[in-house]
Amino acid sequence: MIKTAVILFSAVVVANAMMRPIRIQNYEDCSCEHHETEPCDEEEEPSTPPKTVPTTPSTTQKTTTKSSTSTTVTSTTTQTTSPPTTTSPTGCPTTQRYTPFKRKNGWWCGSMIQVSSSINVPMPYRDAEELCLPAKFASLETEEELEFFTRVARNSRFPITGFWAASAYNATSERWYWSDGQADPNIEKQPTVRDTNGRIAVLVGSDPDPAILEVVPQSGRGSVTISTAVCGVPGLQFS
Ligand SMILES: *[C@@H]1O[C@H](CO)[C@@H](O)[C@H](O)[C@H]1NC(C)=O
Repeated sequence: MIKTAVILFSAVVVANAMMRPIRIQNYEDCSCEHHETEPCDEEEEPSTPPKTVPTTPSTTQKTTTKSSTSTTVTSTTTQTTSPPTTTSPTGCPTTQRYTPFKRKNGWWCGSMIQVSSSINVPMPYRDAEELCLPAKFASLETEEELEFFTRVARNSRFPITGFWAASAYNATSERWYWSDGQADPNIEKQPTVRDTNGRIAVLVGSDPDPAILEVVPQSGRGSVTISTAVCGVPGLQFS
């Protein structure tokens, strides 16, 4: 009993000392016992590319499989997984939680880094790239991606009020564009600019309102806290 209390107290002290939530790679609530420190893995990927994005991302792909070879991840910078093998027709990894999205130039395998803290901690835009490793910091080319990750954020165990997408501003064309290197750079409906030195974030909001793309301060400390990012790896490319 006392031991438990000490452990809990220590955990709180450590969590506070870190000033940053531990993040895990999985973007769904999962049923691992040690959700905060241990990633769930071995998700089932659909063997054929889905024509549409599933409407209930948290239920259809959830499994309770827990690998006996799971290793404990103690921080976001400690990566214990190597780039997974690809076997699906989309070229998306099947050993991690990537969801295939059909983009103009090819398949993109998206994932979102979940926050593991009940405190909504702002994350600077510049940290997104490292956060996503070994995957890449991703843009949101399609409406499907935006809607999918909005649902993921809204259904997350801990609050995600906003998340970053890889973006930049072209001063010549005076337009914001997607910058993950795979996405079609063109953003049809330009985001509302709250901070001209900012970057594009998705302000998640809540049902039934749609999420909003806005250019917000790169600190992540705007009127809405931006606490994570959308990540991914290229799948099979069209040529
Ligand atoms: C910026 O826009 C101009 C004019 O449309 C274009 O020629 C140029 O390639 C763009 N630069 C980037 C980095 O997208």
